[in-house]
Amino acid sequence: VMAELSFKDRVVIITGAGGGLGRVYALEFAKRGAKVVVNDLGVASSGEGKDQKAADKVVNEIKAAGGVAVANYDSVEDGEKIVATALNSFGRIDVLINNAGVLRDVSFGKMSDADWDLVYRVHTKGAFKLTRAAWNHMRDNKFGRIIMTSSAAGLYGNFGQANYSAMKMSLVGLSNTLAQEGKARNIHCNAIAPVAASRMTETIMPPEILELMKPEYVVPLVLYLCHESTTETGSVFEIGAGWVSKVRLQRSAGVFIPQITAEKVKEQFEAISDFSNPQYPTSAPESVSGIMSAVNQPSQVKFKQTPAAAAAAAP
Ligand code: NAI
Repeated sequence: VMAELSFKDRVVIITGAGGGLGRVYALEFAKRGAKVVVNDLGVASSGEGKDQKAADKVVNEIKAAGGVAVANYDSVEDGEKIVATALNSFGRIDVLINNAGVLRDVSFGKMSDADWDLVYRVHTKGAFKLTRAAWNHMRDNKFGRIIMTSSAAGLYGNFGQANYSAMKMSLVGLSNTLAQEGKARNIHCNAIAPVAASRMTETIMPPEILELMKPEYVVPLVLYLCHESTTETGSVFEIGAGWVSKVRLQRSAGVFIPQITAEKVKEQFEAISDFSNPQYPTSAPESVSGIMSAVNQPSQVKFKQTPAAAAAAAP
C-alpha cells in the first residue's frame, strides 16, 4: 500500500474555500495535517453580497474534526491581505490554491464592461495578487506549490462565457510562466480544468449526474500536485468524476511557403492544417524553432530577413 500523502504542518491558502470545490480542498488538506487559511468573501455566484459565515462555517468544520484552520474574509483582489493572514497565523506559506470564482454569463453582444471587469478582477487579477504576495516567501523557503483553476470554457470556449473563458485561459498562461520562473526554487505551478457539482453547475446538470461529479473527485489530483514529493509543473489537467487527463498543445508540422502571399496560404491551407505529423512544443524557444527553420531556408534570403529579426518578430 502506498504511504498516505501527508501535509503535516504545511501552510495552505485556499481562496473561495467557503463552499463548492474550495471547501472540500480545505477539509482534506486539514485532515492530512495542513494548517489551512480558509478564504472566502461570501458572495453569490454573480459576485454580489458579502458574508463572513461562508469561511467561518468551513473553519468550524475543520476544527470540529480536530484540524487547524483560520478564516479570512478578504476579496482575492486584496491577495496580499490573505497571504498576511497565513504569515501572521502560521508563519509561512507552502501551498496556494487559487480557486475563488464568479460567473457573469451573457452572450457577447450584451456583455457590459462590468461583466468583463468583475470576472477579470476575481479570476485573473485575484490569482495574480495572491501568487505575487506568496511568491517571495516560497522562493526564500525553496518550496511552493501553486494551483490555478482554469476551465474547459477557457481551453475550448463556451457560448455565453466570453469573459470567463478569457480569464480562465489567462490563468494557463500565468501558470506556464510561473512554472518556468519557479522551477529552480522548487516552486511548482499547475492548472486544472475541473468539473464538479456546486452551485455553479447545479442548474446546468441533472441531479443524478451531479451525484457522480462530487467535488471530492477533484480533490485527489490537487493533493497530488501540491505534495512535496511531486515534481510535476507547468501542466494542465482536466478532472471530474474520477477521470483525470493531461492536456497539451499540439501543432501541425507546418509548411514553409517561399515568398508567402495570401493566395499561396489559400493553396497550402490543407497542408498547414495537416496534423498527421504533429509537434508538441513545451516552451517559447521550442515553439520558435519552426519559424527559425524557415529563416534558414535558402529561398528565404530574398526577404533579407536575419534570424535576429525573425526572433524579434516572434511573440
Ligand atoms: P462556488 O461558487 O461554489 O465557489 C466559489 C467561491 O468563491 C464562493 O464560495 C465565493 O464566495 C468565492 N468568491 C467569489 N469571489 C470571491 C472573491 N473576490 N474573493 C474571495 N472569494 C470569492 O464554485 P465552484 O464550482 O466551487 O468553483 C471553484 C472554482 O472552480 C472557480 O474558480 C470556478 O470557476 C472553477 N470551475 C468550476 C467548475 C465546476 O464544474 N464547478 C468548472 C470549471 C471551473
